[in-house]
Formats: sequence, structure tokens, C-alpha cells
Amino acid sequence: MVMAIVLAAGEGTRMKSRIPKVLHRICGRTMIGHVLDNLNPLIDKSVVVVGFRGEEVKAEVGDKVLYAYQKEQLGTGHAVAQALDLVPQEGQVIIACGDTPLLTKNIFQKMLKYHREKGSALTVLTADMEDPSGYGRIIRDEEGKVKKIMEDKDASPREKKIKEINTGTYCLEASWLKKCLGEISNKNVKGEYYLTDLVEILEGQGQLVSGYKVEDFNLALGINNMVQLAQAGELMRERINKGLMLEGVNIVDPSSTYIDCEVQVGRDTVIYPQTIMEGETIVGEECVIGPQSRLVNASLGDKVVFQNSVIVESRVEKEAQIGPFAYIRPESTIGPGAKIGDFVEVKKSFIGRGSKVPHLSYVGDATIGEKVNLGAGTIIVNYDGAVKHPTNIEDEAFIGCNSNLIAPLTVGKGAYVGAGSTINEDVPEDALALARPPQVNKLKAAQRLKSLLLSKNQK
Ligand code: UD1
Ligand code: CA
Repeated sequence: MVMAIVLAAGEGTRMKSRIPKVLHRICGRTMIGHVLDNLNPLIDKSVVVVGFRGEEVKAEVGDKVLYAYQKEQLGTGHAVAQALDLVPQEGQVIIACGDTPLLTKNIFQKMLKYHREKGSALTVLTADMEDPSGYGRIIRDEEGKVKKIMEDKDASPREKKIKEINTGTYCLEASWLKKCLGEISNKNVKGEYYLTDLVEILEGQGQLVSGYKVEDFNLALGINNMVQLAQAGELMRERINKGLMLEGVNIVDPSSTYIDCEVQVGRDTVIYPQTIMEGETIVGEECVIGPQSRLVNASLGDKVVFQNSVIVESRVEKEAQIGPFAYIRPESTIGPGAKIGDFVEVKKSFIGRGSKVPHLSYVGDATIGEKVNLGAGTIIVNYDGAVKHPTNIEDEAFIGCNSNLIAPLTVGKGAYVGAGSTINEDVPEDALALARPPQVNKLKAAQRLKSLLLSKNQK
């Protein structure tokens, strides 16, 4: 039986934020979400210790874990004590912090394996940090055995020079945790119950304490402030981008490409700079995305071209072309081979196969059939100030430039709307609708007007 205890009760004062620390997001997922997801494959149950605004943490994390409640934040040792009733008699307990989101599944797995092979009572996950300030330091004896963890605030100048730090992640024998946790005291600079004191306590009882070092110290980054949150974001993005590139995605400039952890991208898709893909976005194969595009919970089929555009909670089917400078708002579907061009906004609309909205249009609450053409400047007038109305444009209809289509409205199959029309009645199938004042040509009138104006100005 392997159990996890994840500490998440702290306020995270150093974040200077109204949001509980562990709920800050990195690449689309909360910090505690990252920790729990990575622990999940190797454990039988998890307990999250909540405290500061615990209800919010619970609401976000959900009921896939158990909870313990720490009323007052008296230290990491005290936090674990709140979960002790849920710890079984046998097996291992992995203790992790909700603020170390970069640790991977693989690291947790390796730590557990090392712990079991060594037969240790306690294994501490450590790392060599270039800048160890703020972390607890690992004190080893001449033989390299872990003797003690010295917290930064309590460390002597000599101890502060130690580069090997405590990542705040441990593997413990459940039995020893139950036996020794009560022995932790709060006699230290911060007056807190330090979980890290377990090292010295177990040592004193002749138990084996080992340190398992992560090779890449970046993985151990603990997030205490917004600077570290941004650093973690950068490191995670690097990891995500690398993963995608190794699967055949062509990311032209990884340093300016921001992809959330759940996003999927097909092979041979090219992603140009300054592109952001968020949430549960899925992109097919052989697409061209960017530059300067933002995709939020979007789904794109294969061979879609999507440039300088924004799409939110919508679908684009294969071989469609979007942008530059299009805005596709929630609940829209752009059909196969369709084109949504420059300065076009689409909202809650369906655009059929091969239809074109190439320039300067607004399409809202509309259902557009196949092979329809909306000329430049077509505006669907969907809102009367009180209610949004639907518009239906059937297959192969042609809407001339600069037309207003006042909903509710149907334009029948194959119908034509003359340019510059304001249409407020249904247009039957194959009809030509003209709704604009007839043109009048007054011969020589321009010349007369000019001389009139000139003579006025001379006076
Ligand atoms: C802790 C470790 C330190 C380690 C570092 C790694 C201790 C005493 N120190 O220090 O050795 O190098 O993590 O990042 O353990 N928490 C509670 N209840 C509390 C206090 C904290 O649940 O009463 C939670 C926090 O929400 C956080 C985690 O424990 O998720 C770590 O707490 P934090 O205050 O950030 O500890 P550090 O000072 O970073
Ligand atoms: Ca911390």
C-alpha cells in the first residue's frame, strides 16, 4: 500500500496574492493538480492537507482525493499530523508539497524504488541547487549518510553554503511515521513543527535515512513567490514543447510558444512564433498555426491554416483557412475547406463546407450552408437590443458586399443578395433580393455643384 500526503494548507504569504498558493496555475493546471497527477500512477490513495481557504482548494481539486484539515498553520510536521489517522499501519507514505509542481512521475517512481531497495525508514528527495537560499539544507556525515535537515532560517553561515537541499518530498515507512511524528517539537527560529526534524529523530533511533538526489535541480523548484511561478512556467513550457517536437511537431521558436500541458498537436504541424494554445485544445496534423495566434479549448482538424487569429471554444474542420486577424468566439463550427478571412468575427455560428467569409464581416447566431459566399462587409444583424435572433443562409447563396441581414431571417438556396442591401425579409430560393435605393445619375450635376461651391468660398 502506497499512500500520498500532499501539503497544501499554507497561505503562501510570499505570493502576495488573494489566491491560495497551490491554486496558481502553470501551463493551464494548478500547482497541486500537477503534483497529484504525477503521484497518481503509483499510489493507492492521496490525502490533501488543506487549511488556508481550504474550501476553495477542495472545490478545485474535487473528490478524487481525501482531505485532512489543518486549522492553524503550525508547520509542515503539524500539517502531516492532521492526516495521520488516515495513514495505514504498513506500506509507504509519500509526502509532497503542493508547491513543487515540476517533479515528474518518473522522479516519484525512482524515489520509491530507491527507498524500497535500500530498506530505509525515510528517504528524502534532494537536489543540488546553484542558489540554495530559502531551502532546508541536507547535512550528511563523512560517509555521506543523511544526518539532519537544517532549515534556512536556522542554518549557520557554514551550513548555508551547502548546495544540497531538501525538495520537501519524502518517502517514509508508514509504521515509522506513526511512531515518530509526535516527537517533533517547535523549538526553532520560526516556532513551527518542522517535518524535516524527522530525519534527526529517526537517525537517533538507529534507523536508516537516505537521500535520493534528482539530477536536474530545476525539477525541484519550490514556488514561494511570483518570480518562481514564472520560472516554473518557463521550465514547464520547455518540457511541453520539447515533448511535442520529439513527436514531430515543428515549433519554429519554442521560446515564444506557449502550450498548456493538456494540449495535443499532430505531427508535421508547424507552429510559428508567439502562439498560445490553452486548455484542452486539440490540433490535427499538417496544420500551420501562427504567428501570433491564440487557441483556447479549440479543436482543429488536419491541414488547417490558422494565422494571426483567436479562437475560443470552437471547432475548425480539416483544410479550413482562418485569418489573418479573425476572431472565432465560443460555440462555432467552421466546416471543411471553409475560409474565415481578415477582420471577420464569428460567434455561435455554423459555417458549412467550402463556404467563404473572406473579409470584414460579423457572423453571429447564424447557420450557413455549403459553398455560400458572404461578400466583404456582410453584417448579420442578430441583436435587436433585447434578444439575439437566428439567421439561416442555405447552400450556394451569395451575399453581396456591405449587406446587412436583419435576423430572424432565411436566405434560400442559391439566392442572391445585391451588394449594399439591408435585408429584413426572407429571400426565397434562387431569388435575387435588392434592398437599396435605386441609383440616380444627374448629368453634369457634379460640375455645377463644384462651381457653386467655388463661388461661395470666394465671397
Ligand atoms: C519546506 C521545507 C524545506 C524545503 C522546502 C522545499 C520544512 C520545515 N521545510 O520549506 O526544508 O527545502 O519546503 O520547497 O518542511 N504547509 C502546510 N501547513 C503548514 C506549513 C506548510 O500545509 O503549517 C504546506 C504549504 O502549503 C506548502 C508546503 O507545506 O505546500 C511547504 O511549506 P512552505 O512554507 O512553502 O515550506 P518552505 O519554507 O518552502
Ligand atoms: Ca515552499
